[in-house]
Amino acid sequence: MIKRVLSGMRPTGNLHLGHLKGALENWQLLQDRYECLYMIADWHALMSEYASPKNLAENTYQMILDWLACGIDPEKNIIFCQSKVASHAELYLLLSIITPIGWLERNPTYKEQIKELQNVDLSTHGFLGYPILQAGDILLYKATIVPIGVDQLPHLELTREIVRRFNHFYGKTFEPPEAILTETPKLPGTDGKKMSKSYNNAIFISDSESATEKKIRSMITDPERIHPTDKGHPDVCNIFSFQVAFNLERVKEIEALCQEGRIGCVICKNELSSCVNIALKEIREKRKVLEKDRKYLLDILDEGNRKAVKIAGETMAEIREKVGFYQ
Ligand code: TRP
Ligand code: SF4
Repeated sequence: MIKRVLSGMRPTGNLHLGHLKGALENWQLLQDRYECLYMIADWHALMSEYASPKNLAENTYQMILDWLACGIDPEKNIIFCQSKVASHAELYLLLSIITPIGWLERNPTYKEQIKELQNVDLSTHGFLGYPILQAGDILLYKATIVPIGVDQLPHLELTREIVRRFNHFYGKTFEPPEAILTETPKLPGTDGKKMSKSYNNAIFISDSESATEKKIRSMITDPERIHPTDKGHPDVCNIFSFQVAFNLERVKEIEALCQEGRIGCVICKNELSSCVNIALKEIREKRKVLEKDRKYLLDILDEGNRKAVKIAGETMAEIREKVGFYQ
């Protein structure tokens, strides 16, 4: 049987270069080799946005727009929305019944997010169960391959533990899924911290060429470099991380030129801007075209939702039987 892939993203705003390099390029490769399901994780988004969820619908739409523009093909993949497949909520309940609280409390990603997102109260029952919902996302489709970023590894490990526990209680039903990590190292934001919309340091896929140039121009480079002839340290420079992602052919040379003090940061940044803009040219053009046809995008989502409901319904029927609810 052909292996299934599932991954998801929370619709919390436009996608940025971190999403492109960290996830979408990987998703694109997988779509030719496996049966892939790509999910808009709106229940997950609600867990942190619950106090003011007004942009959920619009962000969902923007997300499909970004996905398709970046080459996620609706003919090859099932693109769907989590909240439209009610079984996610149902399986979340069953899995939370069998998951010990200790497993959730010791999750490093959980602790980190509570610390990072100071402006939202994440001390809710739902947020503690965030990785249980995620486990359900994967298991509903019996996906065994899960492309994610390293920050999501603890969630996947938990999914594997839940699988073992489920199989032990109710009979062998699921395979423990495997993570696939992207090869590109994490892109920093324009301020050097992790790229994130909430830190206001992201370069968006939908940014114009000039906005992209402006953001790159404002980035901090090696702080020890004052004159273009000073010897630089590419390993501590944010621009250099971007060169690795967007200008691979020239990266060795730039590294040497920088270390020898033979290239100025302004020139280095200009070269990067043009590489980023070239890489995004087609994506941005496609996005502009797709933007005009809202109905087409919503139809894609309807179709994906329908397919997802069908597969999820079959798994739920099997689960209900294994647990022993009356038929
Ligand atoms: N938690 C993931 C993130 O924030 C999104 C997500 C939700 C996901 N469900 C998933 C990823 C299932 C992989 C598989 O990025
Ligand atoms: Fe960074 Fe380029 Fe300046 Fe070197 S030359 S410090 S890599 S911006």
